[in-house]
Amino acid sequence: MSTTAARELAIDVHGLNKHFGDKHVVADLSMQVRRGEIFGFLGPNGSGKTTSIRLMCGLLTPDAGSGSCLGYDIRRESEQIKRRVGYMTQKFSYWDDLTIRENLDFVARLYEMPERRRVVDGALERLGLAARAHQLTGALSGGWKQRLALAACMLHKPELLLLDEPTAGVDPTARRDFWEELHRLAAEGISVLVSTHYMDEAERCHKLAYIAYGKLLAQGTAEDVVRAQQLTTFAVRGEGLAELTTALRGQPGVEQTVAFGAVLHVTGRDAPLLEATLKRFATGDGLRIERVDTSLEDVFIHLMNRATDNYAAGA
Ligand SMILES: Nc1ncnc2c1ncn2[C@@H]1O[C@H](COP(=O)(O)OP(=O)(O)OP(=O)(O)O)[C@@H](O)[C@H]1O
Ligand SMILES: [Mg+2]
Repeated sequence: MSTTAARELAIDVHGLNKHFGDKHVVADLSMQVRRGEIFGFLGPNGSGKTTSIRLMCGLLTPDAGSGSCLGYDIRRESEQIKRRVGYMTQKFSYWDDLTIRENLDFVARLYEMPERRRVVDGALERLGLAARAHQLTGALSGGWKQRLALAACMLHKPELLLLDEPTAGVDPTARRDFWEELHRLAAEGISVLVSTHYMDEAERCHKLAYIAYGKLLAQGTAEDVVRAQQLTTFAVRGEGLAELTTALRGQPGVEQTVAFGAVLHVTGRDAPLLEATLKRFATGDGLRIERVDTSLEDVFIHLMNRATDNYAAGA
């Protein structure tokens, strides 16, 4: 338990595999999350994020592979893990017909916590819920429900938070507040593994992993992830971008086109070929072409397209 790795790594798993029937949902997942780090987990719907989170904290048993969470074995010590981890499930799982305080009190009872009143008061205060303590949970907006869920999974002072799409459907202001809270917690030494579909949230993580079809395709800092794909991107602005998009499809060097409002990103691995093609097709008077940094979103789209192609080829 007192190995250096256990002290430094909140999550350390190797070769995790999980099947549901004949579906290979998690394939050879190896991942490390350092203590005090906010680690983002990205990937399309059904790629295995929730299943991976459940494997990593011992809620599900892998078919193969091993690992530890907070230094405890994920196969044999799930009880110890449970006591030290706060898990915010993807689906809001509190009682609509209880007040905020009653919901928190219920959770405190589940964890058999002493001094429940004090603990619940502290949680209400910290997350700015005190004034709403007597409101019925069912009447809360998405942002307040998500605060309640965070307060509930923090009650027992976990060392690691597993947050499964905690901000889905929450407005930008509430999401920003939520992320500020996550950064405060990380600064206090709490580790966070958070799944998300939002690019701005991905950029706020210390490290990221991208999975598709159960396979981890990239991991590291946002910069590492972008650099590793060695993509070149040109931004095209001006008239006729929809026609240009159609014309570029399947042309040499063009691997993807993504419209960002009034800008079209054209991306590929072979920079000279891509540039030559663009010069041939983007000839309209009003069109401006410039080379730009490939964004995290360009990279994720690229990874997903490639994974889809590989999956189709292998199926
Ligand atoms: N208990 C289960 N029994 C059978 N299949 C399951 C079970 N749980 C998940 N799956 C399947 O495993 C795959 C991965 O699901 P998972 O929920 O882990 O993906 P996800 O990345 O969390 O997706 P989302 O972004 O939609 O939350 C999906 O095809 C899903 O249908
Ligand atoms: Mg999920």
